[in-house]
Amino acid sequence: MTDYPVDISVKPDVEAFFDEATNTISYIVKDPNSDACAIVDSVMDIDYAAGRITYDHADAMIARVKERGLTLEWIIETHVHADHLSAAPYIQDKLGGKIGIGSKILVVQDTFGKIFNEGTEFQRDGSQFDALFEDGDTYTIGTMQAFAMYTPGHTPACMVHVIGDAAFVGDTLFMPDGGSARADFPGGDAATLYDSIQKVLALPDEMRLFMCHDYGPNGRDIQWETTVGDEKAHNIHVGQGKTKDEFVKFRTERDAQLDMPKLIIPSLQVNMRAGEVPKDKDGRPMLKVPLNGL
Ligand SMILES: [Fe+2]
Repeated sequence: MTDYPVDISVKPDVEAFFDEATNTISYIVKDPNSDACAIVDSVMDIDYAAGRITYDHADAMIARVKERGLTLEWIIETHVHADHLSAAPYIQDKLGGKIGIGSKILVVQDTFGKIFNEGTEFQRDGSQFDALFEDGDTYTIGTMQAFAMYTPGHTPACMVHVIGDAAFVGDTLFMPDGGSARADFPGGDAATLYDSIQKVLALPDEMRLFMCHDYGPNGRDIQWETTVGDEKAHNIHVGQGKTKDEFVKFRTERDAQLDMPKLIIPSLQVNMRAGEVPKDKDGRPMLKVPLNGL
């Protein structure tokens, strides 16, 4: 197992931005010892029925970075999201910073490049991103050292990003009463997801965990922050030492009943391009719908 450079003495300032349309939480993560920050899992707004894209959520984050006088060094994607569109290039255009994702984006690009019948102009080498992280790769945000931890299962390119005592878990885990994310997308695998979750639960108990999604199960208010200790004790899918067999059985049965996310078709086409909207042969922004392709 990879030896990760965990340092919970570093305590970044984390500001959350909840997107009501997609139940996504985006974050500004600031170095306590400098003006440097990162943005994790940004959102571009889409009215899919109208084919209209807007930037209210991203603009709010951009305004906040400016208001606080921060320097954006990184725009991190925990994975290729299937339920919301990334605003990474829009934010980069306004604030700079490097866009980073897991190196297994190549697998995702290959899979969905075929499903969406993208031509040879769609590069499947991850070159749309500025950085492709391997398991254990480190990077800096001001004086902080961050690292990427490879956590496949929900998708092949999922990574948890650990920055001091804060870990951004993407869709690896949900809040304890939400359990875990589905593992039935192309390239997903429930047993692999279980192993990835164990890597997250092996981090120190006091590690803060920040969710990418929350749906307020059983009518509770939206929440996005918990700890490793809390997940170990209370997570309804993996807590209290649930076995891999139990998890796989439950996850597989549950996933068979789930509908596709409402925005999966536009999300994949945009997010596999690091948030760039695809263009047709005349250069107009255009999305496809592959019939019976997913
Ligand atoms: Fe996801």
